[in-house]
Amino acid sequence: MHIFQNKSLKPYNTFGIEAKAEQFVEVNTPEEVQVLCQTFNLVDRKLLVLGGGSNILLTGDFSGMVIKVNLKGLDVIREDENHVWVKAMAGEKWHDFVVYCVNRNYAGVENLSLIPGCVGAAPMQNIGAYGSEIKDTFEELFAIEIESGKLVKFNNKDCGFGYRESVFKNELKGKYIIISVTFKLSKKPNLNTTYGAIQETLNKKGISQPSIKEVSDAVISIRQSKLPDPKELGNSGSFFKNPEISNEKFQSLKSQYPELPGYPTSPGQTKIAAGWLIEQCGWKGKVVGNTGAHKNQALVLVNYGEATGAEILNLAKAIQDSVKEKFGIQINPEVNII
Ligand code: EPU
Repeated sequence: MHIFQNKSLKPYNTFGIEAKAEQFVEVNTPEEVQVLCQTFNLVDRKLLVLGGGSNILLTGDFSGMVIKVNLKGLDVIREDENHVWVKAMAGEKWHDFVVYCVNRNYAGVENLSLIPGCVGAAPMQNIGAYGSEIKDTFEELFAIEIESGKLVKFNNKDCGFGYRESVFKNELKGKYIIISVTFKLSKKPNLNTTYGAIQETLNKKGISQPSIKEVSDAVISIRQSKLPDPKELGNSGSFFKNPEISNEKFQSLKSQYPELPGYPTSPGQTKIAAGWLIEQCGWKGKVVGNTGAHKNQALVLVNYGEATGAEILNLAKAIQDSVKEKFGIQINPEVNII
């Protein structure tokens, strides 16, 4: 385990922002994580645990220790007639895990195909797309408590999952390093093709009884058509969360803007599309210096070259202000601002 000083984080964040880490260490086994926690007094140190770096915005150099989690492995640990439990180590790429399941006909994560990032980061914000969230297939995870170096198990309830939320982003923030996540997949699939353009994409291909693989392929083609590939254009997926507003506010906006997309969530609340709000404020495809809101999906902020985190943050603030001014709605980042 080598600790680097002043390491550039540019290759480790999908926004492609240049920032330096005071200290940087890669961990390859759970034991290395434990040694790190027990040898250094990490509790008193500023820490950033990195997986794929696909949900962070670095706003400057990081004056602390960056821990890059490289733990690998995908294994079936249990199965019965209807289900199979797959344990994925935190450093596996999320999409490689999805492909592993899809290729074996294990259902439950096909709608989450092609989401960037690593398995260990997925529970942090309960990643979701096309009507699925990881809380739907999540069985348990193991994490190392930074203070003690102890391995602790969290079940679904312990994680406090919500829309792009979990305890690891809130009350337990900075207290644990996720080591592995176990998912309960189904051998008897109950495919969900109702959300977004999945059904339409399958119809176009003349598929009426899709397989797990065909649903995954449809999701991949929708994502590729809308979302920029971070390898080509720096970005962190949706920058903001979709806001929830009261049904009354939704109805009043809807009478003014009949095309406003909204989905009922908890009783009395409707989630509305932040991308639509941002587009209405004129930001879609707009370029501001090295930054901009993507031309196909206004919710995705992009780095056109050498943008700094501060420039992206300025753009995000300007977008928040204009949405607030036009619609009276506060939109908040989904991305972790460091
Ligand atoms: N829309 C616009 N203009 C835009 C973008 C969207 O009018 O510039 C409209 C669309 O036409 C559609 C609605 O807004 O009617 C929703 O758009 P979309 O289906 O693209 O989904 P989203 O709500 O913008 C969410 C997730 C994505 C996920 C997609 C698909 C959040 C914050 N984002 O986006 O997740 O892939 O649904 O399920 O919940 C991510 O979290 O990084 C992410 C990409």
